[in-house]
Amino acid sequence: DAIKNFISGLPKAELHLHIEGTFEPELMFGIAERNHIDLKYNSVDDLKSAYDFNNLQEFLDIYYSGTNVLIEEQDFYDLTWAYLQKIHSQNVLHTEIFFDPQTHTSRGVAFDKVISGIHRALGDGRSKLGISSFLILSFLRHLSEESAFQTLEEALPYKSWITAIGLDSSEKGHPPNKFERVFTKAQAEGFLTVAHAGEEGSPEYVWEALKLLQVSRIDHGNRSLEDSLLIDELVKRKMSLTVCPLSNLKLKVVRDMTQHPLAKMLDKGMMATVNSDDPAYFGGYVNENYEAVAVALKLTKGQIVQLAKNSFTASFLNEVEKKAMI
Ligand code: ADE
Ligand code: ZN
Repeated sequence: DAIKNFISGLPKAELHLHIEGTFEPELMFGIAERNHIDLKYNSVDDLKSAYDFNNLQEFLDIYYSGTNVLIEEQDFYDLTWAYLQKIHSQNVLHTEIFFDPQTHTSRGVAFDKVISGIHRALGDGRSKLGISSFLILSFLRHLSEESAFQTLEEALPYKSWITAIGLDSSEKGHPPNKFERVFTKAQAEGFLTVAHAGEEGSPEYVWEALKLLQVSRIDHGNRSLEDSLLIDELVKRKMSLTVCPLSNLKLKVVRDMTQHPLAKMLDKGMMATVNSDDPAYFGGYVNENYEAVAVALKLTKGQIVQLAKNSFTASFLNEVEKKAMI
């Protein structure tokens, strides 16, 4: 219908996307078979019926178990290539992709296989689909500071392939301050920084991400709205928030899409963007996320255009590249 066509016609960037969260059940079964790994589900439908989450942790348990079939460089290529083809059909011109190396290296899969497969697909995305992209290495915050330092060391030989360092996984009980030292090291090595904060965690976690991790963006940031001083600070800094509406609904960060904080963020002048997070698990890629909030929050066309522009403004593209895409 009209709003759907309007959204799909807009050029967009995606800034909050976990490549492991794009693992569609059909591809998962295919890769499991060629790697001779038994999934504990009998069919695609059986697997999909497990996608019913009450919180972030219930999702993460399933998300990490899905990655167990990813072994070879080609597996990471196929995963990434499938995502790029999908967003090409949605008029996404630029994407900044998280990957979670510790999820794989902890299973004995070499860092090189993971990043080489992803990087090769991103190269093909550029040459065959015209999609520009950056890669964000994300530390798992439920693991130790030491493990994050070790992962940063492993990443240094691939520095030119990685734009930023991020922080994801179980938020509560793992505040940004746990990673202050490793983020300082990452910045000294020349990486930009971002962090998931205020998804389930308190506004204090968002403050810490700003002040201790010197982030360029806050991933999610929903709970920032509980702290008016924090709202002022985010507006003053023009700090972007990578908001993920369908994720918030599926993980019960919001009760109902009509209660989603995105409209309030825009009203307050915050630099909010719309993203899909883990589209294979949450029921939609970028366009479906725009559609869900546009309908539930009765966004105007002007607001929808603003969100699409924000996605480029908040990206790590340079000013010339941004201008060419908006
Ligand atoms: N890893 C993948 N998706 C995530 C999310 N929404 N929050 C934290 N960690 C994640
Ligand atoms: Zn995320």
